[in-house]
Amino acid sequence: MRHSANLHIVPPIIAHRGANHLAPENTLAAFLKASELGFTWVEFDVMLSKDAEVVVIHDEELSRTTNGVGAVIDYPLSYLETLDAGSWFDSRFSYSRISTLQTVLSFLYQHKLSANIEIKGLQGCNELVVEKVFAILNKHTQHFMSPPLISSFSLPVLQLARQKSADIMLGFLMDEWMLDWETQCDQLQCVAVNMNHQILNRERAEAIKVTGRQLLAYTVNDLSRAQQLYSWGVDAVFSDCLLPEQLSKKSKV
Ligand code: G3P
Ligand code: MG
Repeated sequence: MRHSANLHIVPPIIAHRGANHLAPENTLAAFLKASELGFTWVEFDVMLSKDAEVVVIHDEELSRTTNGVGAVIDYPLSYLETLDAGSWFDSRFSYSRISTLQTVLSFLYQHKLSANIEIKGLQGCNELVVEKVFAILNKHTQHFMSPPLISSFSLPVLQLARQKSADIMLGFLMDEWMLDWETQCDQLQCVAVNMNHQILNRERAEAIKVTGRQLLAYTVNDLSRAQQLYSWGVDAVFSDCLLPEQLSKKSKV
């Protein structure tokens, strides 16, 4: 069975949290930079606000990437939207705000970008976040060139996502090697394995590729490492700073 027929990432690089070396991560500015640089795919992270809106931010805590303090889940969207999500990166981006998933998806399809939406799991919130993400996706996916790829480190999140949709493309995120990855991927019908490149070797790459899945590796910021990964069969890398023009052709080392 081929699992990845619908997932083609060309050029074989995904802007991790947007082009986060040039603009604050997970903001519209970072997605705009990615578009300008020739990316066709961006990855970003989502979680719930207190009033169950889906917001685009990586950390559960506000303090690293905004001028707020405390947990994202403790504040309503109306407050989160007032925070400065750019000055920590550069004062030129003080206008940047935390965006909702809805806003980001509209922005992405206007810029012909495809989305890897990483859902951050949180105990007690998984059902609601998946429900909310799918409600938004149902309104937006028809606009996209390629359907979004949903990924998560949380098994319950992936299971709930599969229950919501038989067709949605799921990526199995693996930060540490899991012996039962194939069983889990089969049960979830994942089209991709999204794996920390530091735990990847040729043997593991081949074991994944032989199942017909796409193999995506994060977070790869070194060109020669990216080329080595491609030579092992990796289909695309998530990067903070490598550019599509450097990686438009997969080359072997
Ligand atoms: O989805 C790949 C990568 O984003 C997973 O790790 O912590 O950067 O969200 P993290
Ligand atoms: Mg992520």
